[in-house]
Amino acid sequence: MVLYFIMFGTLGTVSAIYIIRKIRELQWGWVKSTSSLKDKLFIITGANTGLGYETSKHLVKRGAKVILACRDSTNAEQAISKIRQYTGNGEMSFIKLDLSSFESIKTFANTIKSDYPNFDCLINNAGLAKKEHSLTADGFEMHFGVNYLGHFLLYNLLEDNVRRNKSRVVVVTSSLHERGKIDFNEFTNTNTNPESNSRHNKYYANSKLANFYFARELYKRGVDCHTLCPGLCYTSLFRDYKPKWYHFVAFSPVIWLMLRTAEQGAQSIIHCATDNINTEELNPYTGYYIKNLKQTKSKHVFEDVISTRLYEESLRLCSK
Ligand SMILES: NC(=O)c1ccc[n+]([C@@H]2O[C@H](COP(=O)([O-])OP(=O)(O)OC[C@H]3O[C@@H](n4cnc5c(N)ncnc54)[C@H](OP(=O)(O)O)[C@@H]3O)[C@@H](O)[C@H]2O)c1
Repeated sequence: MVLYFIMFGTLGTVSAIYIIRKIRELQWGWVKSTSSLKDKLFIITGANTGLGYETSKHLVKRGAKVILACRDSTNAEQAISKIRQYTGNGEMSFIKLDLSSFESIKTFANTIKSDYPNFDCLINNAGLAKKEHSLTADGFEMHFGVNYLGHFLLYNLLEDNVRRNKSRVVVVTSSLHERGKIDFNEFTNTNTNPESNSRHNKYYANSKLANFYFARELYKRGVDCHTLCPGLCYTSLFRDYKPKWYHFVAFSPVIWLMLRTAEQGAQSIIHCATDNINTEELNPYTGYYIKNLKQTKSKHVFEDVISTRLYEESLRLCSK
C-alpha cells in the first residue's frame, strides 16, 4: 500500500512538473516567421556559443549573412562549421573581436567599415559573469567593460553606418537589471570579489542595467533600438560558478520549471533582430523590454539624469 502511494505520488509529481513545464514553454513563445532574410546582413557579438550561436543558426537558416564577432578563432570556426552542418550551407564570416580591449574593438570596427559597411542589424549579445574580480585591458571592471562599455564603443565607432543604413541595434540585457545600480565610482575601481559584497554578482546586474540605459538612450536619439531579456537559459554564461551536487538537488524545481534551452532563450533575440516593433508607448525609453517575445515593463525606475550622464561619461571613458 505504502509502495503504491509512493509510486503514484512520484508519478503525479513528475507529470505535474512536466505539464507545468510545457505550459511555461508555450508562454515563453517561439518565433514563427520563416520569411526569407536573404540579402540581410547581421553582426552578432559572442556568436560562438549559447544564445549568440543559436541566434546565428536561426538567421543563417533563413538566408541571412551573419558576421560572427568572437574573441576566439577556433571556437568561432567550429561554430560556423556546426551551423553549416545544420543549415546545409550559409553565408558566415568570422571577425575577431575582444570586447575587453579597446584596440580590438577599434580594429574590428575598421574592418566592418571597410568590408561590410551596409549591415542591417548589430546584435550586442556577448557577455560574461565572473566570480573573481578582474579588469579589462583598459582598466575597467570586467562586467562593466565587456557587457556594457565595449558594446558602447563598438556602437559609437559604427554609428555613422547604423544611421546611414537605418540598421537595427539589439541590446541583450537581463531581468537582473532590476537589481542593478549605476555607480559612477565603480567603473574602474573595485578590488573586491563580486561575491564578497552580496549574495548575487552585483557587477553583472549593474552592467545589465547599464545595457538598458544604453538602449534607452539610443532609442531616444532616434536609433531603431530593441532590448530584451532571454530568460534564465542553460548556456556557459555561469561557467565560472561550479555548483555542487546539492545545489542541483535544491534548485532542481527551478531548473525544471524555469531553465530554457539556449534555443528557447534565443527566440527573444531573433524577434528583436527581425520583427519587433517599438511604439510611442512601448519602447526602451519608456522602460519596456522584450521578454517572452512581448513588450514588458521594467520595474526599474529610470532616471533621465543618469541616462544622459552615463552616456556622456561613457563617451569620455572611451576617448581616453
Ligand atoms: N544565460 C542566461 O541565463 C542569460 C540570462 C539573461 C541574459 N543573458 C545574456 O545573454 C547574453 C549571451 O549570454 P549566454 O547565456 O549565451 O552566455 P555564453 O554561452 O557564455 O555566451 C557568451 C558569449 O559572449 C562571449 N564573450 C565573453 N567575453 C567576451 C569578450 N571579452 N569579447 C568578445 N566576446 C566575449 C563568449 O565568448 P567565449 O566563448 O570566447 O567566452 C560567448 O560567445 C549575455 O549578454 C548575457 O548577459 C543570459
